[in-house]
Amino acid sequence: MPDTQSPALIVTGAGGHLGRQVVDFLLAAQAGPIVATTRNPDKLADLAARGVTVRQADFDDPATLPAAFAGGGRLLLISTDELAQPGKRLAQHRAAVAAAAAAGVSHVVYTSVVAAHPTPQSSLSDDHFWTEQALAASPMGWTFLRNNLYADLLLHALPHAVATGTLFTATGSGRRSYVTRQDCARAAAAALRSAEGRRIYDITGPAAPSQDEIAAIAAEISGKPVAHVALPPEALRPGLAAAGIPPFMVDVLIDFDIETARGYSAIVTPAVEELTGRAPTPVAEFLKQNRAALLGSH
Ligand SMILES: NC(=O)c1ccc[n+]([C@@H]2O[C@H](COP(=O)([O-])OP(=O)(O)OC[C@H]3O[C@@H](n4cnc5c(N)ncnc54)[C@H](OP(=O)(O)O)[C@@H]3O)[C@@H](O)[C@H]2O)c1
Repeated sequence: MPDTQSPALIVTGAGGHLGRQVVDFLLAAQAGPIVATTRNPDKLADLAARGVTVRQADFDDPATLPAAFAGGGRLLLISTDELAQPGKRLAQHRAAVAAAAAAGVSHVVYTSVVAAHPTPQSSLSDDHFWTEQALAASPMGWTFLRNNLYADLLLHALPHAVATGTLFTATGSGRRSYVTRQDCARAAAAALRSAEGRRIYDITGPAAPSQDEIAAIAAEISGKPVAHVALPPEALRPGLAAAGIPPFMVDVLIDFDIETARGYSAIVTPAVEELTGRAPTPVAEFLKQNRAALLGSH
């Protein structure tokens, strides 16, 4: 049983894909007590039945946060998916950081992005950079988990490439150290339990394949020919829009490709293994495990 004298382990955004997996890892390790916060507590009734304290928290409504973080402890701040409205996500994260400090939280683990940096306009990277700065300026300890792109996202792009024989990107010959969401969750659970001080980890897979190599892996696993074609960013845009991807998400995907082309996504670190004791899953292994999705047959 979890030690009730231990500080609470608070997971924000526990209704999301990553948050749920983190809570599962904490439960499996009998860590805790665990507090799961979410906009919709009804959706976490199954976790409440397993002994997790579920509280309502909406970063758009800072009045919900004092009760959500009451009693303090250690907190995993999961970055939100609010990318459609410039500036909104950063405001959400700043509200969460202020409320965590006010509640007496001792340490915040934050899910950031590799090579987080400020940009002239609001952007995904800019949000992460300034959230990191807000934590750095706070009295709390912090751990930044700079997650690279989830390998899971390949299951959106590759089925079309396998079906048509062509993988279009704007990454040029850039490399990207994809990491599975599950490895990110395992690393976040470990950091929430025990990370101390003030430290940045780049959370990456074990290698950084180019998109030529990703296409070759997809071809080998699917048994169908797949070739990578590197386009200039503006030539990629119409195809993404035609696939029904909303304009703000097209911008995010193009930005990721441009950053990869510049080399920002290529870092490979031992952080996942350092934090979890397990080597991260290679992309090829992940795609083999998800062959049905790769073939678009699920
Ligand atoms: N590295 C990558 O490739 C990658 C890919 C996609 C996303 N991300 C980032 O990593 C995060 C977690 O990934 P995921 O796969 O779990 O994404 P997801 O399933 O889309 O989850 C979205 C998350 O945002 C939270 N959220 C949204 N609005 C919120 C609000 N107003 N207040 C508090 N929380 C709010 C949700 O919490 P509740 O629903 O529980 O309230 C949930 O945890 C994403 O939100 C995004 O910032 C990274």
